[in-house]
Amino acid sequence: ATGLDTAAKAAGKLWFGTAADIPGTGEAQDPYWSAEFNSSDFGEATPANIMKYMFTEPEPGVFDYTGAEQFLDFVEGTDKLVRCHNLIWQSELPTWITSPNVTWTNATLSAALRRHVTTLIEHFGDRCYSWDVVNEAFSDSPAGAYQSNIWYNTIGAAYVVEAFQAATDAVKASNLNVKLYYNDYNIEYLGNKSYAAQNLVKDLKNRGIQIDGVGLESHFIVGETPDKASQQANMQAFIDLGVDVAITELDVRLNVPATAATEAQQVLDYYNSVAACVAVGKGCIGVTVWDFDDTYSWIPGTFPGQGYGDLFLQPGGANTTLVRKAAYDGVLQAL
Ligand code: XIL
Repeated sequence: ATGLDTAAKAAGKLWFGTAADIPGTGEAQDPYWSAEFNSSDFGEATPANIMKYMFTEPEPGVFDYTGAEQFLDFVEGTDKLVRCHNLIWQSELPTWITSPNVTWTNATLSAALRRHVTTLIEHFGDRCYSWDVVNEAFSDSPAGAYQSNIWYNTIGAAYVVEAFQAATDAVKASNLNVKLYYNDYNIEYLGNKSYAAQNLVKDLKNRGIQIDGVGLESHFIVGETPDKASQQANMQAFIDLGVDVAITELDVRLNVPATAATEAQQVLDYYNSVAACVAVGKGCIGVTVWDFDDTYSWIPGTFPGQGYGDLFLQPGGANTTLVRKAAYDGVLQAL
């Protein structure tokens, strides 16, 4: 078979993968989506939502793995790696953390953070190839500053270090192989936000804390995507610090409906990201798209007026045949 994952492995990558919103959107109940998910195009799966804080710790100290186990049940047996996503983020938090009626102190929130990180890493163990330990800590304005959120506003920048320290301790205590990642967007090209992420890598390494990789989300917009050379240079900057990089959430959205011109540009944009990952060598370890089927994409719900961002579509809607878009061939050509 010459699926994307098969081709990625032949190109020296560990995987070509996809996010899956299971149980979420119900895509797993779509036999056409499922058949494609289980094809040789995908050797890795990332839970789009169900391992996030609000689902896994809905009440303080009360952990719920029901949905996450459904995700893993669906994925396991299909020979896929799982990038577990994510432990500490500002979004999709339970109300017991975000409620204005709760007063957190540095000490109480740090303790909650450590409990969450430790418990999830120990529970899922080596079923996770990696964990995104901290997600999206840096801001776009000004680029590279810490994002103002409950973690930063209560604990300060130390929350990121504390999360990675707790993760490091859990990996050691349970003798796991899990890789620990920092994951963010707008760090796919050199600039202040990428430099902030690079400084974080250096800082964690100087402290003797485990960080194995940086996830480059790569939620791109047609025509505004960094070119191959700038993505490759950025990847190399991280690799030079002694970590892997992975493309973790690739999609390329456009104003719908697509035109011949925007579709052609999208093919090139997909090609550039995957080709940069190939060109930089082993240090770019894998590529994951943020779902592969426009039917189930998060884009139209999040960016009104935009869509058409994935590799496949279903002309007849959900539960009908999937069609490969030109972007699919752009990816395949890069591998
Ligand atoms: C998105 C999911 O796809 C949506 O279903 C959800 O409503 C919001 O989160 N960066 C990330 C992902 O790291 O977790 C986000 O996923 C997309 C942006």
